[in-house]
Amino acid sequence: MLHLTLRQLQIFEAVARLLSYSRAARELHLSQPAVSMQVKLLEESIGLPLFEQLGKKVFMTEAGREMFQCSKTIANQLQEAETVFEQLKGLDRGELKIAVASTANYFATHLLSQFCQVHPQVAVQLNVTNRADLLELLEQNALDLVVMGQPPEGHDLVAESFMENPLVVIAAPNHELVNAEAIPVTRLAEEVMIDREAGSGTRSASERFFQLQNVSPRTGLVMNTNEAIKQAVQAGMGLAVVSLHTVSLELNAKRLAVLDVTGFPIRRHWFIVHRRNKRLSAVALAFKQFLLAQGDNTV
Ligand code: PGA
Repeated sequence: MLHLTLRQLQIFEAVARLLSYSRAARELHLSQPAVSMQVKLLEESIGLPLFEQLGKKVFMTEAGREMFQCSKTIANQLQEAETVFEQLKGLDRGELKIAVASTANYFATHLLSQFCQVHPQVAVQLNVTNRADLLELLEQNALDLVVMGQPPEGHDLVAESFMENPLVVIAAPNHELVNAEAIPVTRLAEEVMIDREAGSGTRSASERFFQLQNVSPRTGLVMNTNEAIKQAVQAGMGLAVVSLHTVSLELNAKRLAVLDVTGFPIRRHWFIVHRRNKRLSAVALAFKQFLLAQGDNTV
């Protein structure tokens, strides 16, 4: 019988997934020597090395790969057990672990607040991050539900669309193109475009759009929040493609304007997503149904 602790397995899993002691230490809020020590204890109890270090790179040994599979299975089973306990607690005492795309946060919190008014006992854990991180969180089975743009094929996910997500081109209200009609997309090549960070769904959708149109807008300004982009556009630094959901206040206050560019809005949708075999807790199921029912009616 192996003598190991769940904590050691959790630490091992992080090192194996990230192939880095330092990044695992950062993720787990531990020191690097503490991480190395736990991995060493695990290796001693197994009697085989789990990692080998060649130069600066960490590789898994065959035993490491076996252990990695094993740690994922154990983590999944613990998650399952947690879900069963959540189901037993029912709707009134459960926990809802969700993550939403940075751009979806503009409406997700309103929907969450309506849901919590009906279920005030539900404890909510909300993570707001970009599309690439959301896919990673789903991969790790780290949460119940995700609100994001259409996920890519091949991830074994269930994704249901519940609301439109139009992407528009925004400009400062005094920009020369503000009152122009049917601006050709090619005209944008003369403007500076401000981009979201790599990994953003908004960014990849607009890149795809421009590629299809054979237009290469001038970029070079990259910002990792919609808020920063809106401020920069207001300040006249350039134009940007953003979701209409992120700019309703600024449009009402006339601090930003939507340009009438041919081909826009880019039509996207928001999806509620979970792993295909995920056993949803009563709370997660109720929230999913609530979103599907509210969707376009609310926002
Ligand atoms: P994001 O939005 O740009 O905040 O990642 C998600 C998406 O549009 O898919």
